[in-house]
Amino acid sequence: MNHPGSPGDYNRRVIGRKEQMNPSTLERATLRHPRSGSPSGVTPLHVVILAAGQGKRMRSDLPKVLHLLAGRPLLSHVIDAAGGLGAARVHVVYGHGGGAVREAMTAADVEWVEQRERLGTGHAVAQAMPGIPDDATVLVLYGDVPLVNTATLHETATLAGGGSGIALITAAVDDPGGYGRIVRDPDGHVLGIVEEGDASDEQRAIAEINTGILAARAGKLRGWLRRLSRDNAQGEYYLTGVVAHAVEEGMPVRTVPPEAIEEVLGVNDRVQLATLERFHQRRLAETLMREGASLADPARIDVRGRVRTGRDIFIDVNVVLEGDVVLGDRVSIGPGCVIRDTVIEPDTEIRAHCVIEGAHVGVGCLVGPFARLRPDARLARGVHVGNFVEVKNAALGESSKANHLTYIGDSRVGRDVNVGAGVVTCNYDGASKHTTVIGDDVFIGSGVMLVAPVTVHTGATIGAGSTIGKDAPPDALTLTRAPQKTFKHWQRPRKR
Ligand code: UD1
Ligand code: CA
Repeated sequence: MNHPGSPGDYNRRVIGRKEQMNPSTLERATLRHPRSGSPSGVTPLHVVILAAGQGKRMRSDLPKVLHLLAGRPLLSHVIDAAGGLGAARVHVVYGHGGGAVREAMTAADVEWVEQRERLGTGHAVAQAMPGIPDDATVLVLYGDVPLVNTATLHETATLAGGGSGIALITAAVDDPGGYGRIVRDPDGHVLGIVEEGDASDEQRAIAEINTGILAARAGKLRGWLRRLSRDNAQGEYYLTGVVAHAVEEGMPVRTVPPEAIEEVLGVNDRVQLATLERFHQRRLAETLMREGASLADPARIDVRGRVRTGRDIFIDVNVVLEGDVVLGDRVSIGPGCVIRDTVIEPDTEIRAHCVIEGAHVGVGCLVGPFARLRPDARLARGVHVGNFVEVKNAALGESSKANHLTYIGDSRVGRDVNVGAGVVTCNYDGASKHTTVIGDDVFIGSGVMLVAPVTVHTGATIGAGSTIGKDAPPDALTLTRAPQKTFKHWQRPRKR
């Protein structure tokens, strides 16, 4: 939902489930286990996502629905939620500045519907209706309400699809200011929704608010939308007006409570975005813990993607996991690490402050502190990569070690290799990249420059400080070193 006025009104809390007052509760109990398959039984589900708003309060050049939550645009969270419902089709109503939205979401399998004039939420939904068959169930979602819960939506769609009325997600909150209020008769039946600007003082005191999310059969909804007028405080076609039309026709209006208020909260400004981000991150952290990862502090991990974890994992504070990350059994991640699109096999320890992207780290490795593994770094079992070591597009064989201040790029390194401090594979000649090949059981002394393309054969030893531009033969010592000279009477220059 997207318009509470003051920052304070965002943190409304549910002050009570509506179990006692809500006549839908009984119906929910029987409909809770639908026949399976399509959430609405036999009718196809069409989701309409309203995203034509400008999001002025974000104070941003980026359309609001493209702002990121857990590393993904708000809109893509909503589209995914719709996908999780098995929707036959997802329609996204976009408007002013919508070109950027379409471009950013080209991968999404949705129907784009343009709303040229912003004449209200009812008008917005009406733009999508020509593409929806009468027998479908329509579920209306909002592009800036990103954390909608699939189970709650499923229930809402099922309630609407099973009958001929409307199902709404509503919540009782302690500060309803800014929202549409749910008006009920003394028996608790919904009579309609009144918008804040059109409400009497008495109606404004109603604590139960409209979250905006509703579902109805398309054939019915189409008729009710046609009857909407702009005769209200904002001069808009209010979607909420369809509720009163349904009631006039004697159709049932059922309400569904959210499991947590956050799932129906919208993003209007960056403060609210941060609030939802923290809520979502807390849930992701809880999922990791339930799956077998101990977190030093569940409030100090950020997951921006999909993480698969084994058992008995430990993750220290301030770790960021992005993209697809796999952590094997007993993996330990030190504080301050950023790990993206990487597989880490069991029993590996990643020490503090490593940045790892697109890597595959084998069983029982030791990485860091302060190591950087870049795309296509592949470490076999038992490899050690220490501080200030950068590995890019390079494979290190079993039990090889590069512990200090080293760059290994575009390389194939065998097993049991020791790479001394300060070794550099000079892979770039200013125009192209070249490969360094190092055989098994090689010892590279400190400060060696390996000028690629070059091969150091099995069992070779390279003396410290050498610059190696030609292949080094196996089982021999190779070095390039200028003879050491001493100038006995040399004077240091002095300041004049
Ligand atoms: C709406 C509901 C209100 C509810 C609140 C929940 C109506 C009339 N009122 O009020 O009952 O409590 O949401 O947050 O529906 N949009 C379009 N095209 C338009 C107008 C709006 O796509 O022409 C989109 C907006 O981008 C936004 C959503 O619809 O995502 C809601 O519109 P908004 O004007 O913010 O409605 P509210 O006044 O918040
Ligand atoms: Ca709003």
